[in-house]
Amino acid sequence: MKRIFKIVAALVLGGTFLSACYYDHWEAIHPTSGLVDVCPDSVSATYAAAIRFVTAQNCVSCHNSSRQDGNIVLETYDQVKSLAATTKFLNSIQRVDGSKPMPPGVGLKACEITKIQTWITNGMPN
Ligand code: HEC
Repeated sequence: MKRIFKIVAALVLGGTFLSACYYDHWEAIHPTSGLVDVCPDSVSATYAAAIRFVTAQNCVSCHNSSRQDGNIVLETYDQVKSLAATTKFLNSIQRVDGSKPMPPGVGLKACEITKIQTWITNGMPN
């Protein structure tokens, strides 16, 4: 009985300790924490409500301040906005012939691209 108690206690303590470490770094590990499906019409086409989630989920793994693939960083509103002002950006996510398709591999969902287009047309609100 005592032994079982010790094992249970060790598991509980260990679990608490591990989860504390995990949650301390939650934001760093999961910049998309609180992720939403940006596709429904009810999600407004603003950076904060929609675009940030698309880029955090699909672009930042390569376009972050340490990797800077293609010398591009897409971590902040200003960074995304200035790239989105170029034709390269839309061509890449729309995978237009002759462009560099982004993200490489599986592309964005059609509705995510539509949301980004709407955002750009509306003047890229934050
Ligand atoms: C797996 C890594 C990876 C991911 C994920 C990724 N990119 Fe890239 N991206 C690259 C690399 C590498 C380059 C540089 C390619 C080159 O110059 O040949 C690049 C270049 C670009 C360029 C410049 C293209 C050009 O014509 O010069 C744009 C725009 C771009 N990425 C946007 C995005 C966007 C937007 C996302 C997310 C929707 C994204 N990328 C996701 C790796 C990635």
